[in-house]
Amino acid sequence: MNSHEIIELKFPSDLKYATTARLALSGVTQRMNFTVDEIEDMKLCLGEAFNNAVSHGYDECNQKGSVQLTFLVYPDKIVIKVRDYGKGCDNNILLEHQKKSKGKGLGLFLMKTLTDRLECHSQPQKGCEIIMEKRLSTR
Ligand SMILES: Nc1ncnc2c1ncn2[C@@H]1O[C@H](COP(=O)(O)OP(=O)(O)O)[C@@H](O)[C@H]1O
Ligand SMILES: [Mg+2]
Repeated sequence: MNSHEIIELKFPSDLKYATTARLALSGVTQRMNFTVDEIEDMKLCLGEAFNNAVSHGYDECNQKGSVQLTFLVYPDKIVIKVRDYGKGCDNNILLEHQKKSKGKGLGLFLMKTLTDRLECHSQPQKGCEIIMEKRLSTR
């Protein structure tokens, strides 16, 4: 059950491509057996990660770069990777933001809550990689 297909997409670091990225995920997950609600949740999470890559990684398009999406399609789950090569941040910031608290953004909290697994890797000046996993529920 470990065989998987890999779909890779590379976008310019511009917020105008967030919708296109979400649509690509929509197409891929619709081919799997996810519910409409699960697909909407994943699109929301991908949009948050994409926006973060552009807004935080590349300072809102001031810095040019790319956002790389990788979808690993397994028979029973999808793994979504969002990678940027922007300014990055201390990995502890990403861990801290996964917990909900007043006055903080909700992006990472939503990714943590709405997926089955969230992994974050970042270092200052080394960009950022977000890995989200969503399993097909047995129905
Ligand atoms: N791709 C990224 N590159 C650099 N820093 C990031 C990235 N993604 C998230 N961060 C850091 O994590 C913080 C929390 O992100 P998030 O939970 O989406 O809240 P918000 O975007 O509203 O600040 C950001 O404020 C930023 O400091
Ligand atoms: Mg955010």
